[in-house]
Amino acid sequence: MVILNNNHKNGGRPRFDTGLYAHVAGWGMAVPENVLTNEDIEAFLETSDEWIRTRTGIRERRIAGERESTASLGLRAAQQALEVADILPVELDMVIVATSTPEHIFPSTASLIQDQLGASRAGAFDLSAACSGFVYAVDMAAQAIRSGSIETALVVGAETMTRVMDWQDRSTSILFGDGAGAIVLKSSEIEGGVLSAVLRSDGSGCDLLGIPTVGSQDVLLSPEMSQNGHLKMHKMFMHGSEVFKFATRVIGDSILEALDKAGLTLDDVDLIVPHQANDRILQSAARALKVDKDLFMSNVERYGNTSAASIPIALCEALEQGRVEDGDVLVFVGFGGGLTWASMVVQWGVPDEDMQTHRFSKQRRKLSYIGARWRSRAIRTRRNLNETIDRIRPGGGRLKRLRHKADQHEDFD
Ligand code: COA
Repeated sequence: MVILNNNHKNGGRPRFDTGLYAHVAGWGMAVPENVLTNEDIEAFLETSDEWIRTRTGIRERRIAGERESTASLGLRAAQQALEVADILPVELDMVIVATSTPEHIFPSTASLIQDQLGASRAGAFDLSAACSGFVYAVDMAAQAIRSGSIETALVVGAETMTRVMDWQDRSTSILFGDGAGAIVLKSSEIEGGVLSAVLRSDGSGCDLLGIPTVGSQDVLLSPEMSQNGHLKMHKMFMHGSEVFKFATRVIGDSILEALDKAGLTLDDVDLIVPHQANDRILQSAARALKVDKDLFMSNVERYGNTSAASIPIALCEALEQGRVEDGDVLVFVGFGGGLTWASMVVQWGVPDEDMQTHRFSKQRRKLSYIGARWRSRAIRTRRNLNETIDRIRPGGGRLKRLRHKADQHEDFD
């Protein structure tokens, strides 16, 4: 346990025994250009702009184009975040991608992004905690930084939710959109950054919201898991009203618990950046906490629910709108499939002297991206070439010779 001296009574902030803090040093977002408005949906589903707006606050969402994917959106967001942090990809020690719509079961989308960035010294993995995934991932990275095990991490939330929609199901397909957001976390001895986090799960809610995939054949046999009596592989199912009740129940308590852990109260909070699922959920959470709804950042109107990407996208837009200043106390709160929920308190800003600026780093980053593309291609080409040579070489090639050698060793033993 890294947290020490969490001095609540004196209103003290948490201190970490390593003296290290994890600060947000960079941020970025990427959304597809294609916009799908409520009116567009009216053309193929029995619904209306009025119904969607009044129930959810959503007017439009973005849809990934044919050449876009979870990794390509995540990569764009990551490159922006590296730009803002002014660091080179080789400085990254860890890449985590929170997603429910990965490119593959494996390799991880994080590995693809790590490769395309040229982050050759980073470990990479995907994290699955649905719409809470980004907060979970930031906490994993922040803990690794505060323990002294790593210095710099990239955390991405990236989704192509529209590809897992059952477009005949009007109660879910109207809610979701595609996009990505990313932050860079850096180690610093200056107090601040990620101050606390509270991560929770209640798997008994697994039948309320989910996407069945390859390991879940038996799940398909339980029709009660789907509202309309059938489940579709790789398509989302949801019991909207139950999820609504769950979300409104957990948000407030989770925020208060994370604040308490950070030695702070609601009065200290400058902005809450929540998962963007539904404007009515946010209104209800604001009422429960007895705070002005404006304390909650909201952009659900333009992007719908982008799952793990929604918090970093909302954060980027809050920054763009000048709603975040150095020293501000922010709360991130996520909730969704699992069921999972998570809150995190972040004190914004890293003093300038802590940040190294690299001369020519913009050009070096660009070179790194180009180099990464060629390196990756070259490695694959060389491997394919070797395989071809092995296949056509008389006598069965390298593999056979290696096997032969191994056999000889066995004989010797
Ligand atoms: N357009 C028009 N009518 C629709 C509709 C749509 N897109 N979707 C559902 N309806 C209908 C239903 O069929 C139902 O009709 P019926 O009464 O004739 O059976 C009626 O509207 C009410 O359905 P209900 O599901 O009770 O609506 P609701 O007020 O609960 O709103 C949600 C539905 C999905 C908007 C709401 O439950 C919600 O936002 N839940 C949270 C979902 C969420 O955020 N999930 C992600 C969390 S990470």
